[in-house]
Amino acid sequence: MAKIGIFYAPKGGNTEKVAQKVHKHIADSEMFSVPEAGVNEMMQFDYLIMGIATIGKETWDQKIKKSGWDLILPHIDKADFSGKTVAIFGLGDSVTYDLQFVDAIGILGRKLKEKGAELIGFVPTTDYNFRESEAIEGDMFMGLPVDEDFEEEKTDERIAAWTQEITKKMS
Ligand SMILES: Cc1cc2nc3c(=O)[nH]c(=O)nc-3n(C[C@H](O)[C@H](O)[C@H](O)COP(=O)(O)O)c2cc1C
Repeated sequence: MAKIGIFYAPKGGNTEKVAQKVHKHIADSEMFSVPEAGVNEMMQFDYLIMGIATIGKETWDQKIKKSGWDLILPHIDKADFSGKTVAIFGLGDSVTYDLQFVDAIGILGRKLKEKGAELIGFVPTTDYNFRESEAIEGDMFMGLPVDEDFEEEKTDERIAAWTQEITKKMS
């Protein structure tokens, strides 16, 4: 079994695209979409990478009420993540949503910390233009923000630097 589990949602958009890029950088990783894979699969890994969008593609599909991480969060609530090391990347839009930029990183990150996980892969805010974000702790993002809407040209470099940093702490 691979050492690092990458869990992401939603499927079919930017989050999946970024998850695939992260996967390519980390040889010893396996990729799963949420909620097809859930907390039981997560428990098989000591090292986890989680990818989430802040109000992603599913929001404008009215037919789907709940999907992706929404369905998994109640199960995370009942789980124990102590002993697990988790790095989060989050898709967002720093221009249109500059007051809620990548909030989901913070929501998921705080929940995982509450459940005992050690979070790694914090990123300085200095490379981003935004006004407010729930993803900030101290002066760092609690994971890697990726803005495919307005800063697509920075994505590959951001992923390369971030995966290099987190894999050092995942061995
Ligand atoms: C209806 C809607 C609401 C959004 N809300 C936010 C938000 O609150 N904060 C943010 O940073 N990005 C927000 N975004 C931007 C998305 O997170 C961004 O486009 C992301 O790349 C979508 O990922 P996906 O293609 O995997 O769904 C929103 C996008 C849409 C369509």
